[in-house]
Amino acid sequence: MSKQTQFQSLAIPDILKVKTYQPGKPMEEVKRELGLKKVIKLASNENLLGPSPKAVKAIKNYASMINFYPNGSGYYLKKALAEKLGLEDTRIILGNGSDEIVSLITRVFLQKGEETVMGDPSFLMYRIDTQLSGARVISVPLNDFRLDLSAMAKAISPKTKLIFISNPNNPTGTIVKKDEVKSFLKKIPSRILVIFDEAYSEYVEDKDYPQTIDLIDGENNVIVLRTFSKIYGLAGLRVGYGIAAPEIVEILNRARPPFNVNSLAQVAALASLKDKNQITRSRKLVKEGKKFLYSHLKRFKLSFIPTEANFILIKIGKKAPLLEKRLLKEGIIVRGMKAYNLADYIRVTIGTKPQNEEFIKALEKLISN
Ligand SMILES: Cc1ncc(COP(=O)(O)O)c(C=O)c1O
Repeated sequence: MSKQTQFQSLAIPDILKVKTYQPGKPMEEVKRELGLKKVIKLASNENLLGPSPKAVKAIKNYASMINFYPNGSGYYLKKALAEKLGLEDTRIILGNGSDEIVSLITRVFLQKGEETVMGDPSFLMYRIDTQLSGARVISVPLNDFRLDLSAMAKAISPKTKLIFISNPNNPTGTIVKKDEVKSFLKKIPSRILVIFDEAYSEYVEDKDYPQTIDLIDGENNVIVLRTFSKIYGLAGLRVGYGIAAPEIVEILNRARPPFNVNSLAQVAALASLKDKNQITRSRKLVKEGKKFLYSHLKRFKLSFIPTEANFILIKIGKKAPLLEKRLLKEGIIVRGMKAYNLADYIRVTIGTKPQNEEFIKALEKLISN
């Protein structure tokens, strides 16, 4: 191992285990560097339909009030969510994206010597936040690109504190189903917290997708995470929420920064909740986009993982990193999967009809060369 720098030896040792999250370049910069007129970003599973016009209007209306601190409890947003979900607002915690709730959970519940069980590959933040808490990551390989709940249950030990279930799973887009979840939860002792991260739940079409929020009454060791970043199209504002037993929410709130969700995010999220059209249109876009992309991928004889989310994992083979670079030169940004140990794959967000068409056009040109 190379010698530590002066500041690395000052830092807590666990931070040195963490690989820094690699952010993408701003789209404008990519355009400028490559001399492109237009860039299509299909790399971060955002909603390419955009936010609800109602959310944009709410932000504009609120803009002149940003001299005030936000409401620290997210009063109106939590009330609206509680109403929509049919539960008490004491069961809801708001986060600066659901990302923040993942870090709050690891921070308040995990200590050195303890363990977190997660799928491999799955959403990268579970690993990073676990490592930051000084705890150990227990990775359980996927089975046929799906989280293997039986193997995950077998992987628990007396040291296990948390289990993360990304459902749908990022980056594969697959789900675990009702019956599997039911029998899985029976095997998990109540001293372990099971976190269902449902960032993409609103896109799921499979009827056997579990309604985990209904489980919370019976299973007090369950936390459900949702976000406004995906179907609601508010990724740039950073707002997500967790649903759990009031006792869990109370503990998480102790570590939550008082103004973690800014005022514009709160008003935009609130307005988005009232816009049913946003959900209907976004679901339709992804459903139709999926059909279109599947048919062309089949035509190219490329294998892909059928998805329940707004992205598709596509097998390219050894040339995947090269294809990612070439697509970028064509102005299309997709996500290479090296960080997820799936170097032969790319992950592509389902875009608008013209964006999907441009992606397919570029892909066809590049794979036939
Ligand atoms: C599975 C999963 N969970 C959580 C997040 C983070 O969402 P947020 O923007 O709410 O922090 C993502 C973002 O890509 C994700 O894929």
